[in-house]
Amino acid sequence: MTVAPERTALSVRPVAGHIGADISGVDLSAPLDEKTVAGLTDALHRYKVIFFRGQELDHAAQIRFGRHFGELTYAHPHDDAPPEGHPEIFTVDPERYAKRYGGEYTVRTRRKYSYVAGWHTDVTAAVNPPAASILRAEVVPEVGGDTTWTNLVAAYDGLSAPVRAFIDTLRAEHRYGGSDKPAGGSAYARRVNDNLLVAVHPVVRVHPVTGERALFVNPGFTSHIVDVEPRESRAILDLLYAELTRPEYTVRFRWEPGSVAFWDNRATAHLAPADLDHLDVRRTLHRVTVIGDRPVGPDGRESELLAGRPFTADHAVVVD
Ligand code: SIN
Repeated sequence: MTVAPERTALSVRPVAGHIGADISGVDLSAPLDEKTVAGLTDALHRYKVIFFRGQELDHAAQIRFGRHFGELTYAHPHDDAPPEGHPEIFTVDPERYAKRYGGEYTVRTRRKYSYVAGWHTDVTAAVNPPAASILRAEVVPEVGGDTTWTNLVAAYDGLSAPVRAFIDTLRAEHRYGGSDKPAGGSAYARRVNDNLLVAVHPVVRVHPVTGERALFVNPGFTSHIVDVEPRESRAILDLLYAELTRPEYTVRFRWEPGSVAFWDNRATAHLAPADLDHLDVRRTLHRVTVIGDRPVGPDGRESELLAGRPFTADHAVVVD
């Protein structure tokens, strides 16, 4: 698949060998024509994450932009207070978490700069994880705070043919809450544990648009490979996590106020920053997510829902 530059005035500049492109020549706050939306969609699917700078978006404009690519989800399955009048906006800000859930949230779970620490694909505990995520920076630190993405198609392709054939047959449970994280008795932990999200997904996902195969496990949400021994599951996941975090498949983005990152959540995992804990800095970003489909494996089998409900525009938090 190639981006057809003649279709659009967009400028698309790849920034790393396997993933990421800088896009210029578009004002995301303005109404976009079909040609531009098609050009951005092509670039998203080809480069997996696309970056914009100097954009002037407020919540309403970010939502309007996101809707060009599909219906948006509610902020997050466990969020109870999106910004007034904008239920689609999920704000990533450690001060906000600390205010809502107390010090225990930030200290014990150490999720200071994102909902999930470590490598993850957004909300894969849901049976239909978001198709795409759009993150906009409002306040960012002078130093540090970068986000890194990895290309899960390249990570799959990098495995040897026998290993690919083996993992094509596997399925894995993804969960948020219950026996897994977050631990502790904080209000946040209770909220998550009273609203479990659990799904079984294929370990290899076939992208519904590009037909590419991508690794679809991540340390943030995948609890185990099903139908194998726990020790086998650990060894298989260790192998796959080592592969998907290889530096050659990644790109790292330095945020400025007005930066936007738009990623294909069906073909990437990302890593929130971990270099700010010792610094007294603020970092506030806002995310919207496009409602996703149920993943399908190479054998044509769809994901199964084990707990919770699909992640849609509904406000999904059941227990306060
Ligand atoms: C996210 O996980 O969506 C947020 C990433 C970040 O804060 O860098």
